[in-house]
Amino acid sequence: MHQVALITGCSSGIGYETALMLARNGYHTFATMRDAKKSNPLELVIKKEKLSLSILELDVSDDASIEKAINHIQSEAKRIDVLINNAGYGLIGFFEDLTLDEIRKQFETNFFGALNVTKKIIPIMRLQKSGTIINISSGAGQIGFPSISAYASTKFAIEGFSESLMYELFPFGIKVIIIEPGVIKTDFFSNCIVSKHSMEKSSPYFQSLDRIQKNMDLMQEHATSPIDVAKLILEVLSYKEPNQRYILGNDVAMILEAKKNLSDIEFKKMMMQNII
Ligand SMILES: NC(=O)c1ccc[n+]([C@@H]2O[C@H](COP(=O)([O-])OP(=O)(O)OC[C@H]3O[C@@H](n4cnc5c(N)ncnc54)[C@H](OP(=O)(O)O)[C@@H]3O)[C@@H](O)[C@H]2O)c1
Repeated sequence: MHQVALITGCSSGIGYETALMLARNGYHTFATMRDAKKSNPLELVIKKEKLSLSILELDVSDDASIEKAINHIQSEAKRIDVLINNAGYGLIGFFEDLTLDEIRKQFETNFFGALNVTKKIIPIMRLQKSGTIINISSGAGQIGFPSISAYASTKFAIEGFSESLMYELFPFGIKVIIIEPGVIKTDFFSNCIVSKHSMEKSSPYFQSLDRIQKNMDLMQEHATSPIDVAKLILEVLSYKEPNQRYILGNDVAMILEAKKNLSDIEFKKMMMQNII
């Protein structure tokens, strides 16, 4: 019997590549995206390779849309073995320049969106007595950076949620895994929303943000391919007893290792000298 997978945010990047990776490796995959008009590139590959991959509309910030997609999968495939909470975007701006409305929207997608999909999937997996939930966090789920306080907060929240959920669902045979990618070569950076006030020259952070964004552009030159994230996900899904976290990318691995081994003061110095 084919394993059934549901992935959010498959119009591009990590979601797109993971949908293809799972479908090419025997998973009956439901690639979801909030705007079906963006499905063309995926549809072309599906046709060409005759993949067992269906595209469904699902906006993680819209309750009815989540419900509709899950009902569809339930009636077609009768089960859901894998959920990958991938949909997300970055909100850029120093905290003082962010409005609470911008921050709330960031949480609606990156955090509450993932929670809402997970909440509807758990009863299905619990009755099956099996399943795997993979939450796409980030290196920013363990380390804060200037200009992404809201984004990092959503990913820290995803980490705390996932770690707690792992214990809650273990008795029901459901695994919860966190993936922490470093900088990945996707549309993520061009899709980031820059907060309105950050773009005003009168912002006290205008120059700092400009400098940080130039550093981010440099980091993207050595970014990891989203195909590597998809490969990692496929591999992790084959583990009987997976770890709680998987880190991907030399950049993030190096920084996380330093955070583990240095004192807080040493780590802060290292970050300010080399990264920020
Ligand atoms: N790229 C990186 O360097 C990096 C590093 C660490 C973690 N991540 C995480 O990886 C995940 C995927 O990002 P990516 O790099 O693949 O970037 P991406 O190419 O921009 O993909 C993001 C996906 O999320 C979707 N999305 C946004 N809001 C949504 C909503 N309300 N409902 C459903 N889908 C929604 C986007 O759809 P639309 O096309 O409709 O906008 C798109 O399909 C994100 O959670 C991100 O935080 C990325």
